[in-house]
Amino acid sequence: MPGNEPFYELLKKRRAVRSYTGESAPRETLDRIVRAARRGPNAGYSQGLRLLVVDDPEVIGTLAGWQEDERSQEWFGKAAAHMLVMTREQDYHDRYNQPDKLAVTGGVEVIWPVPFWHVDAGAALMLLWLAALEEGLAVAVYGVPVEEDGRWRELLALPDDLTVVVGVTVGHPAEDPDWERATSVFSQRRRSIDEVVRWNRWSS
Ligand SMILES: Cc1cc2nc3c(=O)[nH]c(=O)nc-3n(C[C@H](O)[C@H](O)[C@H](O)COP(=O)(O)O)c2cc1C
Repeated sequence: MPGNEPFYELLKKRRAVRSYTGESAPRETLDRIVRAARRGPNAGYSQGLRLLVVDDPEVIGTLAGWQEDERSQEWFGKAAAHMLVMTREQDYHDRYNQPDKLAVTGGVEVIWPVPFWHVDAGAALMLLWLAALEEGLAVAVYGVPVEEDGRWRELLALPDDLTVVVGVTVGHPAEDPDWERATSVFSQRRRSIDEVVRWNRWSS
């Protein structure tokens, strides 16, 4: 039946899961997931995406220890891996200053309508998420607070030209009796389809 194809079935399972068993995941599995993320669209084929896979239990333990509340410590600590979705903005400036791009934009770098490097990171995030689901794993996303950026950079040896867009936890899903309290899905109304999608003209 239309709408029941494997992709739509997979999509029904997509939600943030912040509770894991603590089991590890084989490197081959994690490798397939990050390879899927590499297949995303990206502006001008600038390829500014960078992914850091953290599967060292000691490093995961440090990241978990930095979390303030017990729930977040469990969430971070029991993940099989953390994957940092990062971008190198300079790759976009370099690419859009190449002759074929400058020929289109009159010799000056394009005025970016929005930061396309963040768009591409978002596309990669989604591919990563869907690939992890396909592997039977569960995923959640987090932002790295600005005030913590320095210590994350130091621990993970991140160079200055990379920006962390989001962190992702990947793990074997566990029961989560507390799920309703942790997710905004429960406290916020889902916008109706008419609020989000319109056809041909936005305002009547
Ligand atoms: C860019 C981004 C940042 C997020 N940051 C956090 C976070 O710091 N902590 C958290 O618990 N969830 C975070 N989330 C997960 C969202 O809260 C979650 O996706 C949203 O509530 C919808 O729920 P669902 O993914 O289960 O459908 C983030 C999601 C995105 C896309």
